[in-house]
Amino acid sequence: MFGINKKIDKAINLYDKGEFDKSLSLCLRILNADSENSSILITAGNIFYVRNDYDSAIKYYTRVLKKNPAHYSALVNMSNSCFELKRYDDALYYAARALRKDKTGKLPYIILGNSYFAKEDYPRAVFYMEKAAELDSSDPWIYNTLSQAYQKSGDYIASLSNAWKAVEKAPAEDDAQQINLGYLFYEIALEKGVEVITECVDLWYKKYGRNPLVSYMANSLFGSLQIKEADRKYVQNIFDVFAPDFDSVLAALDYQAPSLIQKMMEEIYPDSSRGKLRILDLGCGTGLCGGFLRKYAAKKSLDGVDLSAGMLAAAAGKKYYTTLVQNDIKSFLEDNNNHDGKTYDLMVAADVFTYIGELQELFENINKSLRPAGRIIFTVSENTENKNNYFLHMSGRFLHSLVYIKNILKNTCFELEFYERRKLRNEGGKAVMGYVISARKKD
Ligand SMILES: C[S@@+](CC[C@H](N)C(=O)[O-])C[C@H]1O[C@@H](n2cnc3c(N)ncnc32)[C@H](O)[C@@H]1O
Repeated sequence: MFGINKKIDKAINLYDKGEFDKSLSLCLRILNADSENSSILITAGNIFYVRNDYDSAIKYYTRVLKKNPAHYSALVNMSNSCFELKRYDDALYYAARALRKDKTGKLPYIILGNSYFAKEDYPRAVFYMEKAAELDSSDPWIYNTLSQAYQKSGDYIASLSNAWKAVEKAPAEDDAQQINLGYLFYEIALEKGVEVITECVDLWYKKYGRNPLVSYMANSLFGSLQIKEADRKYVQNIFDVFAPDFDSVLAALDYQAPSLIQKMMEEIYPDSSRGKLRILDLGCGTGLCGGFLRKYAAKKSLDGVDLSAGMLAAAAGKKYYTTLVQNDIKSFLEDNNNHDGKTYDLMVAADVFTYIGELQELFENINKSLRPAGRIIFTVSENTENKNNYFLHMSGRFLHSLVYIKNILKNTCFELEFYERRKLRNEGGKAVMGYVISARKKD
């Protein structure tokens, strides 16, 4: 038999190794014998915390605080749990108590900074995050929050300088801070004009331009005419991060591409074709098109392909698709064509070609993968910036001219059936205009 101390060590050790079930059951047995054991109450609380069950975590931390109101770990973990539950005032209350107990740890400052940020009190968020940075100058996320708080306060120079520090402190293989800095450049360019950031972007490109993601984002900001498609890692990264909130954020931006495609399909396809088509959703994302496509799809004939695992996981949750494949759409179609092609009656691509400028090769492969008289229905964002066929906008998205699209369709043996100029979504308070287009494969 273990003595009680050995059991406590074992429960904590199991927790540290990530064996949460075993650790929790041992914690509960220990608590039967010693219901006020602080280390075990904290460990049990932490197990619920890592499982995102913050209410249960709080119950354990509360038991510790009843006996010892100044218990530092219980106060910090309690405030973290309250933060996760969006109980920001409670988070502030417990973090302030933790700070009274010990002013040398960074965690209470970080929770105070994050909670004030969430409450949109940006000067206080800055104040506490600066304190956290004094205690730990190696944590990129502290500088990341500082950058956001300064940006919200309207101090874009401090915001840039902290986003830059976040990039410098992050491990080389971690692109999250590079993406944040790239977005910050874009937002400042939108608000103040691109000339304000040119020098900084130049510096960024010189230092980190070998990273394909940085190179892509910097080139978008420079308005490069050389780039033909978005960097795949960039697409994957932004959509993996975006996936959990994609549907709600896009709804708030009045995102129209899926419903425009749906309306065009209703005009094209008679009711009798419902349940008969083999369909591929190119860049299916979280499956916003899947809801209406499945009504047209023959049994087990609705496939989706996307680069982002996060977006695909959200699509899988909706249970519309027969298969979901993580791949680049061009590679997917090439593979399909190497296996005989001519698989699909219909392909749709809602707001996907905005990540691919040059469309010739893609449309050749789309054509080969369609059955005779098959269709592609898609949207593109309109290029009103210049006379180019396509243009990499500083947002990192491509804009296409209608003339170019018409030429591509002609060159790749498609008949342009219908097109409409419509608002695709809002961005920065303005409508993003584009086209919804239906094209049919020629014999
Ligand atoms: C704006 S979202 C649109 C998603 C979906 N079509 C919709 O309308 O909700 C663009 C999607 O295209 C995907 N994507 C962009 N480029 C891609 C590529 N080359 N291959 C596969 N997927 C791509 C992204 O990962 C993202 O999920």
